[in-house]
Amino acid sequence: MYLGLDLGTSGLRAVLVDGEGRVLAASDQAYPVSHPHSGWSEQDPAEWIAATERALDALSQSHPKELAALRAIGLSGQMHGATLLDGANEVLRPAILWNDTRAATEAAAMDGDPAFRAISGNIVFPGFTAPKLAWVQVHEPEIFGRVAMVLLPKDYLRLWLTGDHASDMSDSAGTSWMDTGKRAWSTDLLGKAGMRLDQMPRLVEGSEVSGTLRREVAKRWGLSESVKVVGGGGDNSASACGVGCFDEGDGFVSLGTSGVLLAAKAGFAPSPETAVHTFCHSVPDTWYQMGVILAATDCLNWLAAQTGTKPAELSALVGDRIDGPGSIRFLPYLSGERTPHNDARIRGAFVGLSIGDGHKELTQAVMEGVAFALKDNHEALKATGTTLNRLLAIGGGSKSDYWVELIATLLGAPIDLPEKGEFGAALGAARLAIVGDTGAAPSEVMTRPAVARTIQPRADLAHAYDESYAQYRALYPALKEIT
Ligand code: XUL
Repeated sequence: MYLGLDLGTSGLRAVLVDGEGRVLAASDQAYPVSHPHSGWSEQDPAEWIAATERALDALSQSHPKELAALRAIGLSGQMHGATLLDGANEVLRPAILWNDTRAATEAAAMDGDPAFRAISGNIVFPGFTAPKLAWVQVHEPEIFGRVAMVLLPKDYLRLWLTGDHASDMSDSAGTSWMDTGKRAWSTDLLGKAGMRLDQMPRLVEGSEVSGTLRREVAKRWGLSESVKVVGGGGDNSASACGVGCFDEGDGFVSLGTSGVLLAAKAGFAPSPETAVHTFCHSVPDTWYQMGVILAATDCLNWLAAQTGTKPAELSALVGDRIDGPGSIRFLPYLSGERTPHNDARIRGAFVGLSIGDGHKELTQAVMEGVAFALKDNHEALKATGTTLNRLLAIGGGSKSDYWVELIATLLGAPIDLPEKGEFGAALGAARLAIVGDTGAAPSEVMTRPAVARTIQPRADLAHAYDESYAQYRALYPALKEIT
C-alpha cells in the first residue's frame, strides 16, 4: 500500500493506492488562506499538519488494514512557499505562499543580476522563494536573523513525518537558489541572496527515499516505522507523474487555484529571457517547461464568494457549449501576473459592463479571461520552440466542458479529458512512492490515463474568439499605465 499526500493551496488531499497504483480511498481536508494585504498570501503551517492528521484519522477509520500495510508515502505540494524555521524547528512566521507578490522589489533586484537567470534557468519571480527571504531580511530582520532552515510547504510536512530536513529537485527548482541544470543547490546564488547552504534541506530525486517515519507518527496511526517517505515533487511535476506526462510534446492544462500549461521536455532547455518556467521533473534527468497564471479557478471562486453563490452554480449558468465571446472582458490578475508579463502589481479588471449584465455574463467573462491568459501562456511556450502534440485537461475547472472547449478553441488544439478517476498530484506522489519503494521503472508505473473524451476546437468560432483575444491583449498595457 502507498499513500500520496498533496498539500494544496486550499486543502490537503490524501490518496491511498495499492501496489498497482489503483486508488482505494481518498480524503480531502480544507484549510484557509489569509490575504492580510493586497498581494499577500499566507498560511499557518500548523494547519497543514492538522489537515494531515485528520486525513490519516479518516483513512485509518475507513481502511485500517490497508494503512497498516503501508510501505511508502509520496509528497506533493504547492510550490515556492517559504516556511521559516528556527534552530529548534519552530515556525517563525506564517508561510508566505506562491501567489504572494509582496517581494516584487526584491525579486527585481535579484533578477537584475544575470547569474540568477543563468544558473536557475528562470526569471526571479516575486512568488519564488529567494526574494521572499530577501523581503523578510528587509522588513522583519529579527526573524531573518533566526532562520536556521527554509522549507517548501510539503517539506515541512516531511519534517513532521520523518524528522528530516529534505526536499526534492522539482520543488527546489522553484526557489531561485538552485542550479536547475545540475540539480543541486547553487552556493553562488545562495551567497548572492544572503543565504547559506546549511539553511537548505538535503536534496533527493522525487523517486528517491528521503527517510522513514518518526516513531510517534507511526505509533499513532498503527503504521510500520519502516514506512519510507520519498522525495515527491512540486504539485505540477507530481501532476505530470499522475498523468504520465514525460515525453517531449506531451502536456496538460491544469485549471486549479493557479492555471498551468505544462510541456514535458526531452532535456534541460531553459528560456530565462521569457516568463516561461523551466524546472526539474520528479524523475532523474528530466525537466519540464510551463506557463503559470496566478488565479484560474480562484477567479471563479472569488466571483462566487462576491455574488453569494457557488462556483458550480455559476458554471452551470453558461452551459456546456461555447457560442461565441461575450462583450465583457475580464483580466484575471487578482493576485498579479506571472507568464507572460511578470507583473506583480497589476490587478484584475472587468471592462465593458452593461446595465443588463448579471451573474451569467460575469461568469462567462471570467472564464474567457482565464482562457485568454492560458492562450498567452501557449504563445509564450510556442515562442521558445515548444510544440504540444497532446494536451490533457486536469484540475477542478476541467469539469466544465464549456471552459475546456473555450481553451481548445483558443489554443487551436484538441484537449483530452481523462476517464473519471484520480490522476492529480496526490496520485503522482503515490506513484513516486511506488517507484521509490520498488525500484520499478517510472514509465511502467506512471502511465497515461485512459481518455474518456476529446474536446475539439470550434473552428466556426475561432475567428470571433481571436478577435476578443486581441481586445484582451490590448487591455493589459492600458491597465498597466493607470496602475
Ligand atoms: C507554479 C505555481 C503554482 C503552485 C500552485 O509555479 O506557482 O502552480 O504550484 O500550487
